Amino acid sequence: MDTPLKLQIDEWQGTIAHSIEQHPVPYLVKVRGLDYVMFPETFNPNYAKASLILLDNLGVRPGDTVLDPFTGSGADAIFAVLAGAARAVAIDKFTMPVLCAKYNAYRLGLSDRIDVRQGDALAALQPDEQFDLVVANPPFRPMNPESTVQAMMRDSAHATLRNFFAGVGRHLRPDGRMRIVFSNAGNLDYFHHLAKECGFSSSTVAQARYASDVIMEVYELTRIHATTPPAAATVVDVDTDRLAER
Ligand SMILES: C[S@@+](CC[C@H](N)C(=O)[O-])C[C@H]1O[C@@H](n2cnc3c(N)ncnc32)[C@H](O)[C@@H]1O
Repeated sequence: MDTPLKLQIDEWQGTIAHSIEQHPVPYLVKVRGLDYVMFPETFNPNYAKASLILLDNLGVRPGDTVLDPFTGSGADAIFAVLAGAARAVAIDKFTMPVLCAKYNAYRLGLSDRIDVRQGDALAALQPDEQFDLVVANPPFRPMNPESTVQAMMRDSAHATLRNFFAGVGRHLRPDGRMRIVFSNAGNLDYFHHLAKECGFSSSTVAQARYASDVIMEVYELTRIHATTPPAAATVVDVDTDRLAER
């Protein structure tokens, strides 16, 4: 990665982390016009263009069942249900985002349609659970996180991304689709390689930039073949496991 891009990513992610760390107690925000209570140590979508372009391009169809495996505040799952999805499962590895997602689903009267779980993405699902639509904003950057806030944006050696692609096919209906946001803050070539290796074709749905060089794109991924690819080996992500245990 060249130096100007690295500096822009450092500044971008540093600003997001710093903004999240400014909030020691829950605070009121508007997310795309909706009153929302944001919790501390929780990824605030208003601070991240990547979150907002995914929120604006969820691609929900009426009656969809939706999986949001990196939910943060829960906004993607909540907006999916508000847009007509029948129900959603929202997962996060850390406690504060899980509490935030549960609380906002409750105050919006959606608790019976949004099932919020704490766990390591797909590991929080039953083996036979399947969805029409997966919406995902995973951590992008292949670096070791040193705090829970950094673990919202960093993924040691893309272990989380690899586990996600290795397992997601089993949880997607044969005609299911995914909307995933990714960025050149991570390895975009590797993202597309993993997607293809795991049996998905992708097309770009939306794009945004931070400064001149940081690109983020929402992709729609669908299966190349109707068959479910074999599960790949699980990668152990020691760094985020250690932070989640705190
Ligand atoms: C970039 S944030 C996105 C949050 C939210 N979906 C949004 O768009 O604003 C990534 C989220 O994934 C969570 N996360 C990171 N690693 C995870 C893992 N292995 N399993 C589940 N959640 C994880 C982080 O805690 C964080 O809330």
